[in-house]
Amino acid sequence: MKNFHDEYNRTKDLFENKMLAMVGEAVYDAPEILTKAMRYSLEAGGKRVRPVLMLQVAQLFGTTLENVFPLAVALEFIHTYSLIHDDLPCMDNDELRRGKPTNHIVFGEDMALLAGDGLLNLAMETALKGAENLKEDDLKVYLQAMRILFTAAGVNGMIGGQGVDLLSENKDIDEETLHYIHTHKTGALINAAVLCGGILAKIDEKTYSILQHYSDVIGLAFQIRDDILDVQGDPEVVGKAIGSDLANKKTTYVTLYGLQESERKLKNLEEEGIRLMNQLDCDTSFLKTMIRYICQRDQ
Ligand code: IPE
Ligand code: IPE
Ligand code: MG
Ligand code: MG
Ligand code: MG
Repeated sequence: MKNFHDEYNRTKDLFENKMLAMVGEAVYDAPEILTKAMRYSLEAGGKRVRPVLMLQVAQLFGTTLENVFPLAVALEFIHTYSLIHDDLPCMDNDELRRGKPTNHIVFGEDMALLAGDGLLNLAMETALKGAENLKEDDLKVYLQAMRILFTAAGVNGMIGGQGVDLLSENKDIDEETLHYIHTHKTGALINAAVLCGGILAKIDEKTYSILQHYSDVIGLAFQIRDDILDVQGDPEVVGKAIGSDLANKKTTYVTLYGLQESERKLKNLEEEGIRLMNQLDCDTSFLKTMIRYICQRDQ
């Protein structure tokens, strides 16, 4: 593998060009303010971790990226809508996201709500469009991947996790409930990113099971790091206000286990992710460095 950051940025740039072209095509009869609101959050930046993961896994197992873009774009649309809604006053009530004022601060709560809904529907349309010219085996695996993605986005996945996260504000929750929140609100879409990439590349069952485990590890690590950054991140770098969890009286990894134990858990997850990737007999150096990046990121 070339330098990790070069490879990450190459994949991210390819993805972003594709995504912006797809938005241009997909939005053709919307009120100007909603088009602007959707584009505002999509173009504000973001690490694009989920699409990069999906594209890198697919590439590792030999799929052409063209087959993967529609689902990778659908995933980033879903993720971006989840952030717009997450920041609303009725949820986390945050005013900074991706280094800019949150969607509702700029466009108002009503338009932000609809821009989020709009992105979720665009995700479905974009994913379905990707299925249009596929035949037989390719169509079968594509539909399988699509089902995984939209299940992960729904009430049994991300939305379920967001629900329990909100219901748990101001309460002492146990380890099991926190685990449900983390694995669902954040883990589910990260699982889907990794698994969809593998499914589209038609991987075997053994590889699937290793990737599933790896995606669990990376998903949990991602949210633990997010909880730590909410306490000790630099708002200029993270692009979000610090202290949102405290203000909303959330139980997080840091409040339940403390900073030191959270760091220790991250170290273990990093090692576990690398151990899993060593079980595959292809060049997993990108995915190994990816887990390290997720565990150590400042952004
Ligand atoms: C933030 O996700 C929300 C969580 C699930 C923790 P990211 O940290 O991936 O946000 P962006 O896309 O880079 O802005
Ligand atoms: C949000 O978790 C997960 C989503 C589904 C958006 P957080 O509420 O901790 O995410 P941030 O810290 O606002 O990005
Ligand atoms: Mg939240
Ligand atoms: Mg939030
Ligand atoms: Mg957070």
